[in-house]
Amino acid sequence: SCGSGGSGGASGSDDGSITMGFSQVGAESGWRTANTKSVQEAAKESGITLKFSDAQQKQENQIKAIRSYIQQKVDVIAFSPVVESGWDTVLKEARDAKIPVILTDRAVDSKDTALYKTFLGSDFVEEGRKAGQWLVQSFNNSTDPVNIVELQGTTGSAPANDRKAGFAEVIGADPKFKVIASQTGDFTRAKGKEVMEAFLKSNPDIDVLYAHNDDMGLGAIEAIEGAGKVPGKDIKIITVDAVKDGMQALADGKINYIVECSPLLGPQLMDLAKKVVKGETVPARVVTEETTFTQEQAKTALPNRKY
Ligand code: AHR
Repeated sequence: SCGSGGSGGASGSDDGSITMGFSQVGAESGWRTANTKSVQEAAKESGITLKFSDAQQKQENQIKAIRSYIQQKVDVIAFSPVVESGWDTVLKEARDAKIPVILTDRAVDSKDTALYKTFLGSDFVEEGRKAGQWLVQSFNNSTDPVNIVELQGTTGSAPANDRKAGFAEVIGADPKFKVIASQTGDFTRAKGKEVMEAFLKSNPDIDVLYAHNDDMGLGAIEAIEGAGKVPGKDIKIITVDAVKDGMQALADGKINYIVECSPLLGPQLMDLAKKVVKGETVPARVVTEETTFTQEQAKTALPNRKY
C-alpha cells in the first residue's frame, strides 16, 4: 500500500490496499481500551493495514507519531488529539505531503478546518448538558443550595472543556446549584480517587459529584466509602461513558446517572478512511449516537454490554 514507488499519499496506492497511521491518546480509561479494540478490529475486518501508536496522554508523542506516519507515506492518518490546541504545524505537514487526516473522538481548535477531512465523534457539550439536565430534574423539589464537586477530564482536552461547559450552561439557570470545587482527575481511576479524597477533606458538605468519566467516578467511590459515606445516597454521582464497570456501579446504586459516550468508532472510521483515500467527499462532521442511563435502564442493558 504505502509503497516505495513514490505514488503514496492521498492518491492511495498501486495495489489498492490502504494503510492507516493511527495515533491513540493512551490507555487511561475503560472507554479508551474499548475504543482501541474497536479501531483495531474494524481495521482488520475492512482489510485496512493499521499502524497504531499509544501516546500515553502526551501531545509531543502524538506529534512524533504523526510525523513518522508522514515519513512512512501512509495513505491516511487518523488520530484522537489528547488536547485541542497546538496542531496547526503538524497538520500542515500532513497536507503538504498530501496525506488526508481524520479526527476521531476528540476535536482540535485549528481555525483552518481544511487541515482535516472530517471529525467523527461525540457531541461532548451535549453530554455535559444531559448531565446537568438530570441534576436539575432530580433536585427540582428543593430550594436548598446544592453543593457540587466536579472531576474534570484531562486538562485542555475537548471532552473536559466541553463537558464542563455544557453542564455549567444548564445548571447556571438556577443559582442554588454551586460548583464548590472542580479539578482534573486526568480521566483515570487513581487520580479520581486521589482528588476526591482531597475534596472530601476540605468540603464537609458535598451533595453531588459530577465526574467527566466513569473511571474517575469509580475511583471517587472508593474515596467516598473510605471517608465513611455512602456513594449514591450521601453523595449523588453523575458520570459519562457507560462502560461496563460504570454500568455495574449504576445498577448497584453507587452511581445515580450515566450519560453515554460511545467508544465504538472503528467501523465508521474505516468507512470514512476508504472514502477519503478514494477522494470522495465526506461530511465535515459525523456525530455518534448516544443515550443516557438510569439505574433501572442499566440493569436491563448490563447483560448485553460489550465493553
Ligand atoms: O475522549 C473521550 C474520553 O476519553 C472518554 O470519555 C474518557 O473516558 C476517555 O479517557
